[in-house]
Amino acid sequence: MKVVKVEKYEEVCEHASEMVLTAWKQHPQLVLGLATGSTPIGFYRRLVERYLQERLDFSGITTFNLDEYYPIKRSHPQSFARFMKEHFFDHVNIPAEQIHILNGEALDTGEECSRFEAGIDAAGGVDIQILGIGRNGHIGFNEPGTPFGSRSHLVALTASTIQANSRFFADPSEMPRHALTMGIQTIMKSKKILLLAVGEGKAEAIRLALQGPVTEAMPASILKRHPDVTLILDRGAASLLGGGVQDAAARDSQ
Ligand code: PGA
Repeated sequence: MKVVKVEKYEEVCEHASEMVLTAWKQHPQLVLGLATGSTPIGFYRRLVERYLQERLDFSGITTFNLDEYYPIKRSHPQSFARFMKEHFFDHVNIPAEQIHILNGEALDTGEECSRFEAGIDAAGGVDIQILGIGRNGHIGFNEPGTPFGSRSHLVALTASTIQANSRFFADPSEMPRHALTMGIQTIMKSKKILLLAVGEGKAEAIRLALQGPVTEAMPASILKRHPDVTLILDRGAASLLGGGVQDAAARDSQ
């Protein structure tokens, strides 16, 4: 894996947005896998700024989001569908029919996941997948123990994820206990992966993912088996890796 260490959050966002825009300029029909959470907010802000400043045309982009709570109404203030509208889709010209988010209102979750997977295949696969990482090493909502061979599926959230995310709900008991997520195999099929992590709270997960064994107990550790992954880390997230804070192309430790 390539590791890019920068000082601050803004630089993580700048670096990630620059990589995506470079790929988009070469291939305007880019298929992007997108993530929610606090980490990518500045990445979306930067993409929107560049879109407006440079009058870019994103109409060729197709997107697939990593995950969504289940059950949740699309219109719920904490749904990932709402998050994506507020932080990105309301500000750029990606046509609605090219935006794909697992439906937290689906009655049949198995059918919904199959439809979503078929959509990715029909689009020719994800060119660049943006990922965050949980403190427990989850990617998407693939919690520790998720089989590496998993496709998109319904998951029961772990206590630590419920605790981490329930603070965003006006009434924490409203936080859904389940989610729909791209599977690990789905994520691994992406042609390129950019994982963004900031803050010391992520440092141990980053250390284990990079330097520990490849194990289903640490979902992000599978990324070592992917041929094109870049981790973009601020000083805090990189703090347990050793070495200084500078742009560094470290290699896979597999
Ligand atoms: P965060 O979430 O960006 O809000 O830290 C990342 C994740 O849990 O994958």
